[in-house]
Amino acid sequence: MLKLSQLATALAVVVATGTAMAGEVEVLHWWTSGGEAKSVAELKKIMEGKGHTWKDFAVAGGGGDAAMTVLKSRVVAGNPPAAAQIKGPAIQEWAREGVLANLDATAKAEKWDSLLPKGVADVMKYKGNYVAAPVNVHRVNWMWANAEVLKKAGVAGAPKTWDEFFAAADKVKAAGLIAVAHGGQNWQDFTTFEDVVLGVGGARFYEDAMVKLDQKALTSATMTKVLETFRKIKTYTDPASPGRDWNLATAMVIDGRAAFQFMGDWAKGEFTAAKKMPGKDYLCAAAPGTGNAYTFNVDSFAMFKLKDAGAQKAQADLAAAIMGPQFQEVFNLNKGSIPVRLNMDMAKFDDCAKMSSKDFVATSKNGGLVPSVAHGMAVSPAAEGAIKDAVSQFWNDDKISVADGVKNIAKAAATK
Ligand code: BGC
Repeated sequence: MLKLSQLATALAVVVATGTAMAGEVEVLHWWTSGGEAKSVAELKKIMEGKGHTWKDFAVAGGGGDAAMTVLKSRVVAGNPPAAAQIKGPAIQEWAREGVLANLDATAKAEKWDSLLPKGVADVMKYKGNYVAAPVNVHRVNWMWANAEVLKKAGVAGAPKTWDEFFAAADKVKAAGLIAVAHGGQNWQDFTTFEDVVLGVGGARFYEDAMVKLDQKALTSATMTKVLETFRKIKTYTDPASPGRDWNLATAMVIDGRAAFQFMGDWAKGEFTAAKKMPGKDYLCAAAPGTGNAYTFNVDSFAMFKLKDAGAQKAQADLAAAIMGPQFQEVFNLNKGSIPVRLNMDMAKFDDCAKMSSKDFVATSKNGGLVPSVAHGMAVSPAAEGAIKDAVSQFWNDDKISVADGVKNIAKAAATK
């Protein structure tokens, strides 16, 4: 039996470490690349510091399609994780199922309404209640370039228009190197595709075609130009690109095997993990023609309803940690994104992040800020899946004419 003095000591430890209500948090995410793993390790550290047990539930697969499939089967089986990386319109779909926990108590105590851009807060809420906590803002319309490769090929700086881009890519090819490092998976094909829609058509056209899924825009002459440009980019990729993971494509740019990659700024997390310096070893620039626009992608975590009090406390602590200034800084320094929490000090961030932060504010005022379809920010998961498939079929099969490609994509966009 425990003696009274031992009991007192045990209680004192519990009070001092604050672990009276410690719980386990099982967190589903798809952050498995070098830069991503470093980022999520910071969240684990904070949670363990609060006395909770972190149960990592990582499902590899960039873009998160595989993670979402696994999540569905766990929830259907009545065994959801404590938290899962869920974002954009999918948050509403999960909330409608009645399985998400209400985070209002934490949001109120931590003043989330005043710390988040309203547009982001709205996406995190279902019927006015917070059901998800945002971690960052990723910019998707980036082009990454190896500085040394550009120099070798005689390319002066990052191309700003698609014409300049193709001229630069020709020079890289002539120098015997791969111009575009591409990972042939449907979400990566689409990441490039939405850059082209934005670069060729502009932000208004992007909104009409990609967000409103307006049939007139989707079947317009601009869309024909988009598909022609998109198909041309493929001629600058290497034959080994089908199926390649995004971080392996980034590694090709890091190592100097390739000149460019079109990818969101989680790619910068790979450059950072490889100790490469922006402006010196590599360049970050908006994808051609998209300098005045910004495709955003906000990562967030939703919590599932759990009965255990310790688990609930751990969920509340996780939500608070995610929005806390310490995590917002260290996570985003590693991840390549910028903090979603407003008024954060950007002193420790590099020039790419500073540019992202500046452009995020500027485009939110001039109409250039648009949601990324490739990264689940714009349309329902069903419509997104259908358009992604149509775009990838066109990318992979040169026998599909541009006219048919336009028709197929417009038809897929009509999926409810
Ligand atoms: C997520 C990022 C992630 C990337 C690659 C995106 O959809 O928002 O956080 O790094 O996919 O997996």
